[in-house]
Amino acid sequence: MSPRNLVFLVVALIQVCAIPAVTDEADFTALKALKDTWKNVPPTWVGADPCGSRWDGILCSSTRVTSITLASMGLEGSLSGDIQSLSELQILDLSYNKDLSGPLPPAIGDLKKLTSLILVGCSFSGPIPDSIGSLPLITYLLTGTIPVSTATTPGLDLLVNTKHFHLGLNQLSGTIPPKLFSSKMKLIHVLFDNNKLTGSIPSTLGLVTTLEFLFLSNNDLHGPLPNLTGMNVLTYLDMSNNSFDDTEFPPWLSNLQSLTTLLEGNPICRKTGVTKSYCTVSRPNSSYATPPKNCVPSSCLANQHSSPNCKCAFPYTGLLVFRAPSFSNLGNITYFSALEKSLMDSFKSHQLPVDSVHLSQPRKDPSQYLDLNLQVFPFGQDRFNRTAISRIGFVLSNQTFKPPAQFGPFFFAGDTYLHFTGGVIGSKKSSSRGVIVGAAAGGLALLLLLLGAGVYAYGQKKRADKATEQNSDFGGGGVPQLKGARCFSFEEIKKYTNNFSETNGIGSGGYGKVKSDSLSPSLSENGFLFAFHLSIFMIY
Ligand SMILES: *[C@@H]1O[C@H](CO)[C@@H](O)[C@H](O)[C@H]1NC(C)=O
Ligand SMILES: *[C@@H]1O[C@H](CO)[C@@H](O)[C@H](O)[C@H]1NC(C)=O
Ligand SMILES: *[C@@H]1O[C@H](CO)[C@@H](O)[C@H](O)[C@H]1NC(C)=O
Ligand SMILES: *[C@@H]1O[C@H](CO)[C@@H](O)[C@H](O)[C@H]1NC(C)=O
Ligand SMILES: *[C@@H]1O[C@H](CO)[C@@H](O)[C@H](O)[C@H]1NC(C)=O
Ligand SMILES: *[C@@H]1O[C@H](CO)[C@@H](O)[C@H](O)[C@H]1NC(C)=O
Repeated sequence: MSPRNLVFLVVALIQVCAIPAVTDEADFTALKALKDTWKNVPPTWVGADPCGSRWDGILCSSTRVTSITLASMGLEGSLSGDIQSLSELQILDLSYNKDLSGPLPPAIGDLKKLTSLILVGCSFSGPIPDSIGSLPLITYLLTGTIPVSTATTPGLDLLVNTKHFHLGLNQLSGTIPPKLFSSKMKLIHVLFDNNKLTGSIPSTLGLVTTLEFLFLSNNDLHGPLPNLTGMNVLTYLDMSNNSFDDTEFPPWLSNLQSLTTLLEGNPICRKTGVTKSYCTVSRPNSSYATPPKNCVPSSCLANQHSSPNCKCAFPYTGLLVFRAPSFSNLGNITYFSALEKSLMDSFKSHQLPVDSVHLSQPRKDPSQYLDLNLQVFPFGQDRFNRTAISRIGFVLSNQTFKPPAQFGPFFFAGDTYLHFTGGVIGSKKSSSRGVIVGAAAGGLALLLLLLGAGVYAYGQKKRADKATEQNSDFGGGGVPQLKGARCFSFEEIKKYTNNFSETNGIGSGGYGKVKSDSLSPSLSENGFLFAFHLSIFMIY
C-alpha cells in the first residue's frame, strides 16, 4: 500500500470514528435502560448508536426509533417506564416472550405515536394502565344484552344480509330475543358460545334455514331443545354445557343428515348409563403433515428438522389457532395445502428469508377451535437470525398474514427461537414450550391468555373515550393474564359505528371489507365489521 493510500485510509478511519452517533440521545438512553433490564437482548445491541449500527429489532426514521419488534427472542425482565422517552415509537411488538412480566408502565400511554402495541403471549400482569385508554385502543369484550330494534333504535335483527354473527367468548347476558331471527335472514354462522346467555332458544331460530354452524355452548340456556326442522344445511350444532331440559331427544335431529350435535354437559347427558354419541364430544384430528416435495427427507442432527425441501435446519415453531374454520373434514388435505401456499406467499411478499413451511397435526381443541403446528424453515441457511425472527413473528402477531377464507380469523402462539445465528439462548427451553403448548392444550385458556396479555392499540381510529372499564377476572388458573379488560356494550358500538353503519365501522380485520351499496348513516342491512386484532366479535 502506497503511503498516500495509507494516509487516505487513516483519514478515512478517523472520519469513521469521528462520525457522531445518529441516534437521538434520549432514544438511546431509553433503549439502553431496556437493555439493562432485559436478559437475552440481541448481541447486536452494543455501542451507543442503535439506529446507526442497526440494532436487531430496531427501526429508525432518521435519528428517532420508530419500531421495536422482538417476537420470540426469549427476553426476560419487565418493561420499565423508560420506554416513555421513545416519543416517536409507532410499533412495539414484544410477542411470545413469556418471561417478560410485571406490570405495564403507565408511561406507555404517553407514547402518542404508538399505533401497534402487541404483547401476545407475554406474562405482563396487573391492571391495564388507564393511560393506555388515551391510546386509540379498541379491544375485547362485549357486555350487555343482544340488541334488537325498537321503534326508535336499530338492532341486529335488521341485518338481513349478514352471514356471520360471531359473538362467542364475550360477556353477553340476558336472553336471546325472539325478534333477532326471521326468515329473511341469510345467516350461516351463529356463534354465541361462551357467554352468559340465559332463557330458552327462541323458536324463531328455526326460520333461519341457511344456518350451517350454531354454537351455543357454555352458556346458561334452559328450556326444551329447539325445533330445528327444516334446517337442512345445519352441519354443526353445539349446545354443550347448558341446562336444556332432559326430555326425549327430538326426532327432527336424527332426520338431519350430516349434522354433528353436541350436548355434553347438559342434564340429558348426566344420567347414568347414557352412551349417546351426542354426549361424547368428538374432537376430530388428522395425521396430516406437509409432505416432502419430491425429495427424500434428510436425517438430521439433534433439534434440526428436515424441511419440506429435505434440508436440515432449525425451524421457527408455534401454534396456529383458527376459531371458526368453515370446514370440518380435517382429512381433506386441500385446505392445508392452500394454507401452506398462502403462508409462503405472505412471507415472500414481505421478503422474508423463508424456504418452506410445514404444518402438522390438525386437530379440534377443547373449545372446538382448529389447532395446527407450524414450522417455518429458513432459506439458504440452517437457522434464522434475529432480524428474520422478529419480522416473521410480526407478520403473524400483527396478523398481517391473511389465511385462505375457509380458515377464518386466526391467532398465532410462537415459541421462543433457540437457535439464532451466533449463539443459542441457553435457558428455559422446556419451560417456554411447556407454557405455551400447555396453555394451548386448553384452547380456551390459551385464548384467555391472548386476550389477557394481548393488547392491541389500533391506530388512527376514533378514540373510545367513554368505553366502560370493567374489571373482569378471566379466571383460567395459573395462566398469565392482565386482569381488567376494556369492555364494550352494544350501546357503545352503536355510538362508535354510528348506529351500526358499516361506513363508520371501526377497523377491519381478518375478513376484509364489508360490501354494501348503502352508505346510509343508519343500520346497513349488510352488517358491520367489528374485527380488531384479537378482538372477539365480528358481524359481517
Ligand atoms: C317442528 O316444526 C315443524 C315445522 O315448523 C312442525 O311441523 C313440527 O310439528 C314441529 N315439531 C314439534 C315437535 O314441535
Ligand atoms: C387422534 O385422536 C386420538 C384419540 O382421540 C389419538 O389416539 C390419536 O393419536 C390422535 N391422532 C393424532 C394424529 O393426533
Ligand atoms: C376437499 O376440499 C375441496 C375444497 O373444498 C373439495 O373441492 C374436494 O372435493 C374435497 N376432497 C375430498 C376428497 O373431500
Ligand atoms: C364443557 O365444560 C367442560 C368443563 O368446564 C370443558 O372441559 C368442556 O371442554 C366444555 N365443552 C365444550 C364443548 O366447550
Ligand atoms: C439476517 O438474515 C437476512 C436474511 O438471511 C440477511 O439479509 C441479513 O443481513 C441478516 N442480518 C444480520 C444482522 O446478519
Ligand atoms: C399490521 O396489520 C394491519 C392490519 O392487517 C395492517 O394494516 C398494518 O399495516 C400492519 N402493520 C405493519 C407495520 O405492517
